[in-house]
Amino acid sequence: MGAEPTRDMNDARFPEGFLWGAATSAYQIEGSPLADGAGPSIWHRWSHTPGRTLGGPLGDTACDHYRSWESDIERMHELGLGGYRLSIAWARVLPEGRGRVNRAGLDFYTRLVDRLLERGIVPNVTLYHWDLPAALDDRGGWLNPDIVGWFGDYAEVMFRALGDRVPMWSTFNEPWVVTHDGYLSGCNAPGHRNLFEVPIASHHVLLAHGEAVRRYRALAKQRIGLVVNLAPKHPASDSAADRAAAERADAYFNRQFLDPALLGRWPERLPEVFGEAWPGWPGGDLARIREPLDFVGINYYTRNVVRDDPTVLPDRAAHVEQPGEHMTTGWEVYPQGLLETLLAVKQRYGDVPLYVTENGSAFPDPATVSGDTLEDPERTRVLRAHIAACREAIRRGVDLRGYFAWSLMDNIEWSSGTKHRFGLLHVDFATQKRTLKASGRLYAEIIASNGGILGDV
Ligand code: FCB
Repeated sequence: MGAEPTRDMNDARFPEGFLWGAATSAYQIEGSPLADGAGPSIWHRWSHTPGRTLGGPLGDTACDHYRSWESDIERMHELGLGGYRLSIAWARVLPEGRGRVNRAGLDFYTRLVDRLLERGIVPNVTLYHWDLPAALDDRGGWLNPDIVGWFGDYAEVMFRALGDRVPMWSTFNEPWVVTHDGYLSGCNAPGHRNLFEVPIASHHVLLAHGEAVRRYRALAKQRIGLVVNLAPKHPASDSAADRAAAERADAYFNRQFLDPALLGRWPERLPEVFGEAWPGWPGGDLARIREPLDFVGINYYTRNVVRDDPTVLPDRAAHVEQPGEHMTTGWEVYPQGLLETLLAVKQRYGDVPLYVTENGSAFPDPATVSGDTLEDPERTRVLRAHIAACREAIRRGVDLRGYFAWSLMDNIEWSSGTKHRFGLLHVDFATQKRTLKASGRLYAEIIASNGGILGDV
């Protein structure tokens, strides 16, 4: 009679050295956007344009992190974070986007990074999380080919200043959102609605990515990668039309940036997706885009079930509403999609090290909290399920090196203002008081036990 194999706590543990972190971005938390000589970004302008952002220019204060960064780092330390993913506001460092460096802006990030290191927290720095200097938008922004050099020069300023201390860099956060929402849906700054601009902006983003990686190799010797948002695209039916729609959506959303950056080619269906708007690019550009990367960062929130719909630009794939649990953003809660995504990336791109650089959920929390902790049962459950999906991916051979929860704290959710709360810490935006949520407490326990307390879920 064979004994049942017993599972003890250790079975649940993640590999030694697994990096547990939390993420934020500059515009969403810092506030004081024009302080100490910073230039305006496109998000500053956007939020100061009536009707563009819910609640108006809330980014003027946001979480006031520009002034409360020291106590925020203490909060990170209390949570036991091993890593912190932040982004640099380009216009703090280069107020006109190019040329003159603003020492005070650079100093802010230098102090932040130094303190994180003192606290034993690995800084994971993103160069571009959507806040383009407005002065560059005035010159065409991502539509101007010169931006490749402007971005390279900015990246170089940052690598020279912090390259010796920051072990993990990303060029871009979610290039798909940069060009789709910035240039087609128009729901993000700079708010264009022009299909013909999208492939141009995407191409310049990709060339800028390659340029920054090349400059990094010449100046610093740790790790640099690219962060993309991915979502499984499931056909709504078995029909050939719906399956083709899912393939187009996959090419446009999941592969538009990763195929060129990692494989040096365009997804086969991409010209078909863009149709008349696809300009075609010189083949040599792919060699400039495909630079060896040290890791890929994946932001995961949901999946999409799609059906063929010729009216939806550019991929002609409409999202079909699903039953079940949804976040306040309308996104379906679908933790198994994270496992599916990690496995798909491994299968398509081989053994590049992966990080989950964002994952989280928004549910209705009150604006004000009394007491020491806020109970947030939905977020707590959803966090647990997604981390379990990560563990399963590792068991199935995915080289997953870390997980960054979105977000350290409630913040400005872009054009939705403070409507969607994703934080592990609750923020009372009237008083700037931070309160730990139950999901944050669970995350601290997961970190302290390296996943052990998840048990055999
Ligand atoms: C991602 C963004 C991040 C945040 C989350 C909810 O697309 O990278 O800034 O808005 O969604």
